[in-house]
Amino acid sequence: MKIVRTIAALELLGEAGLVPTMGALHDGHRSLFRAARAENEVVVASLFVNPAQFDVAADLSAYPRDEQQDAEIAEEEAVDVLFAPSVEEMYPAGFATWVDSGDVGAEGAARPGHFRGVATVCVKLFNIVQPRRAYFGQKDAQQAAMLRRLVRDLNLGVQIRVLPTVRDQDGLAVSSRNVLLSEGERKEALALPRALARGVEAYTQGGDPVAATRGALNGLPPDYVELVELDAATVLAAAVHVGPIRLIDNVLLKGNLS
Ligand code: PAF
Repeated sequence: MKIVRTIAALELLGEAGLVPTMGALHDGHRSLFRAARAENEVVVASLFVNPAQFDVAADLSAYPRDEQQDAEIAEEEAVDVLFAPSVEEMYPAGFATWVDSGDVGAEGAARPGHFRGVATVCVKLFNIVQPRRAYFGQKDAQQAAMLRRLVRDLNLGVQIRVLPTVRDQDGLAVSSRNVLLSEGERKEALALPRALARGVEAYTQGGDPVAATRGALNGLPPDYVELVELDAATVLAAAVHVGPIRLIDNVLLKGNLS
């Protein structure tokens, strides 16, 4: 695997699949790498903690970083190129152009500027790497919905592939932020996937999935619980606070995501 730090040094051969990441790679990323490996000649992973998408400075400074471990995981998953630019490489002095993706659902409203930062960095990565396909996790359902709309609106020639959320054995969706949870907080956090499961149950019985989820959060303060339309799918999505950590998760109610 080649590690590339500058845009100029990124020479691609053949049809590429791109997995954009902010590092702290976990099993969710592994599933994206595997899908990309199966569908493309060349697999590029980007590793860039994008300051433009953090609405809270403390969240940016606390974001877990371990490039050596990330490089090992990417190598194990047969990634061809790890693109790991510096902040200056991506946002050089004088940078002033932003992609305004508009809000998508309550996640956009809860984190002002977040989707603008994600949209801008993704358009930059799509232009730099010129992938045929780009891979994202269902856990970030509103992000995926925003990116699909962006690609449609701006006629970008990249297919947005959305892969199912990977969960630990106890049901918690894998996330880079999980390493920040204490043992007790991790136990409390399990109320989130359990509450979403109550929501699915209510939905299948003709009830209100949002109310059922809210009622089963076991005291975790929610930012929101909402239904998100994602092309041919509807997902039930929620964000909650567990101590100082904000976690998001969602489940598919109908349709399919890929
Ligand atoms: O989902 C993420 O990790 C980030 O939002 C992304 C897509 C890599 C953009 O920085």
